[in-house]
Amino acid sequence: MAKHSGGLLLLMILSSFMSISTLLAAEADDGATLLAFKAAAIGGAGNGAALASWNGSTGGYCNWEGVRCRGRHRRVVALSLPSHGLTGILSPAVGNLSSLRFLNLSSNGFSGSIPESLGRLHRLHTLDLSDNAFSDWQQTDKP
Ligand SMILES: *[C@@H]1O[C@H](CO)[C@@H](O)[C@H](O)[C@H]1NC(C)=O
Ligand SMILES: *[C@@H]1O[C@H](CO)[C@@H](O)[C@H](O)[C@H]1NC(C)=O
Ligand SMILES: *[C@@H]1O[C@H](CO)[C@@H](O)[C@H](O)[C@H]1NC(C)=O
Repeated sequence: MAKHSGGLLLLMILSSFMSISTLLAAEADDGATLLAFKAAAIGGAGNGAALASWNGSTGGYCNWEGVRCRGRHRRVVALSLPSHGLTGILSPAVGNLSSLRFLNLSSNGFSGSIPESLGRLHRLHTLDLSDNAFSDWQQTDKP
């Protein structure tokens, strides 16, 4: 009997552990988010060469220029690309980099609005978007 319940407990622990890690893996698709950022950032008249290292063949997104990761789940904690000649828009997808603490995109040519989704980055403590061509904060759809 004791043996049985021990086995059952182990099974329960294992299955809850597995569903937690599945959840974390599903949430933390930071590589895809960075590619969305890239696509938007070079979408203008911009210089795609600035993010040439951001490709699938350089050992994963944690090794891409300007990207710093932390932890077993390789969450992006810092994105630093000042003066990189980026000219498109800042993708609202950055709001999905939920472990981000540091974001420096100063001295680029980003235009359009600053996405409201940045407000979801609760860990962000340093944000530098100075010296760009942003119009204003993204407006919510209110009458
Ligand atoms: C990927 O990045 C590496 C390192 O910067 C570069 O040598 C290689 O040419 C890039 N590949 C593509 C397809 O852009
Ligand atoms: C953020 O992530 C969710 C879940 O993966 C996805 O559905 C959504 O499109 C992403 N948001 C942006 C702006 O990419
Ligand atoms: C962002 O990067 C620029 C260029 O390196 C630097 O001068 C500036 O101090 C940085 N901003 C922050 C808040 O660290």
